This record gives sequence, C-alpha cells and structure tokens, in this order.
Amino acid sequence: MSLFKISPYALKEKKGKETIVAVTAYDYTSAQIAEAAAVDFVLIGDSAAMVMLGHEDTFSIGMEEMLLFCKAVSRGAPDTLRIGDMPFLSYQVSKEQAVYNAGLMVKEGRCHGVKVEGGEEVACVIEAIVKAGIPVLGHIGLTPQRAAELGGLKVQGKTLESAKKLIKDAKVLEEVGVFGIVIECVPAELSKVITEKVSVPTIGIGAGPFTDGQILVFHDIMGLLKGFRPRFVKNYFDGFNTFKEALSQYVKESKEKIFPSEKESFSLSQEILQELLVD
Ligand code: KIV
Repeated sequence: MSLFKISPYALKEKKGKETIVAVTAYDYTSAQIAEAAAVDFVLIGDSAAMVMLGHEDTFSIGMEEMLLFCKAVSRGAPDTLRIGDMPFLSYQVSKEQAVYNAGLMVKEGRCHGVKVEGGEEVACVIEAIVKAGIPVLGHIGLTPQRAAELGGLKVQGKTLESAKKLIKDAKVLEEVGVFGIVIECVPAELSKVITEKVSVPTIGIGAGPFTDGQILVFHDIMGLLKGFRPRFVKNYFDGFNTFKEALSQYVKESKEKIFPSEKESFSLSQEILQELLVD
C-alpha cells in the first residue's frame, strides 16, 4: 500500500471549511469499518494498551506492540490517512531515538505520520521528527502519558495560568511544524480560543464543539467497554450487550444441538458412507 497517495498536510485545507472526523483503530477489522465509514483519518492510539490489551493505563505499551497494531490497521484501511501514536518512552529519551521510532511507524507500521503527546516541553523532539520528513500530530490538554505531572486524568486548562500555558503550547507546536493538534479534555471555550489562534486544525476529544475536528476511541463509540464511561463519550451502539447476547445465543444453541443444523453442515455421499461403515 502506497504511502504517497495521502498526505496529513492535506487536513490543513479542511480547517474552517468542514469538520474533520477521526477515530482510533487498532486491528484489521476496526480499520476496515473506519475506512468504510469514510473517516478523515484513523489514529492507532496508545489507548490500545487499555482497550485491546487490558492494561490500566497507556504506560504499558511499547513500540513492538504499537507496530503490530499499526501494521494490521494499515492492511485494513489502505486508503485512509493513518497516524501512529508514539508510546511512552519512545520519544522522551533522546531526539535520535524519537526520530528512529517515528521512522519505524512509517517504515514498518506503514503510517503516514505520528502523534506525540505534550506541548513546549517536547517541541524540540517534534521539530526533529518533522525535519526527518515525518509529519507530526501534536496532543495537548490531558496527555495521559504525563498524568502524574498533571495530577491525574482530569480536565485541563481551567485556571488562567494553565489555560495560557495551553495556548502557548499550541502556538509552539504550530511553529515547529505539526500538521494538527489533538486537544483532550479542555473546556469548550478554551479549545475555541486555541482553534482561532492556530492555523493548523485542532482535533478535539472532550474539548467541546468548537474544534476543527473530533476524535473518539472506537470502543467508546461502539459501547464495547464494560463499566466506566467518561462524560465526553457518546455511545452510538450497545456493543457489549449486543455481542454478549449473540454469543449467549450461540452457546445456548450449541448446547441444545440446534447449531450446527443441516444448513451449516457438509455431507458425505451415501455410497462412501456405506463403505466407511462396513470397514
Ligand atoms: O490513544 C488515544 O486513543 C488517544 C486519543 C486522544 C484519541 O490519544
């Protein structure tokens, strides 16, 4: 699948004209569904650690697993813009390592670009990746890989000081060449201000209606997760219960010998069967 046909920079042309809609995808199947639904891009998010691997947070996923997910999504959505999320410790140690790992997302994962969490503090790393020819999507606000520093997984930018910092972060990211900025869990009014102050598209998650685009986690849209649901999520499908009911029906029918019926079975000719029985 060619990487040249799609450019992340083309998203910039949509700013102010149409809403950019994205979703996470992690495997071949979800990628195929995302492509069929004509999303503007798919993010192979490090949220895979939680929704695909069952970890408590996103710290526990590394490059090896992320590349596996990226490759599967690339096969499932060959004609959709694909952005690979840089996992924890893949870009924090050195600029060289960051460029190398971002390169692997493109070379092996067949992604068109990468996403990096953080503002001003990671600007030089982002600059190095962009200079290496790899498009970068920024990510500010609630950045789960910096949860300890941010005081947990909570709404960001509610004080004047933190709101000003987020505006500065967005501007710095724009300066070092990101093609877009994910804004996560920020008051709607603040993401509006940020959206107006930068020329690149802003993609919101829990950031209200005024960003240039929206992104949600596939499993949240599909209602696949049991239990906790963040306020900013809208379930468009009751996946967990719908799949559970189908599986329960399969269990019941198999136990009661209703499945498989003649319709789902193959048959042998009477002649061969007779031969077998006399043996
Ligand atoms: O990994 C993820 O799911 C994200 C979200 C912002 C979509 O980074």
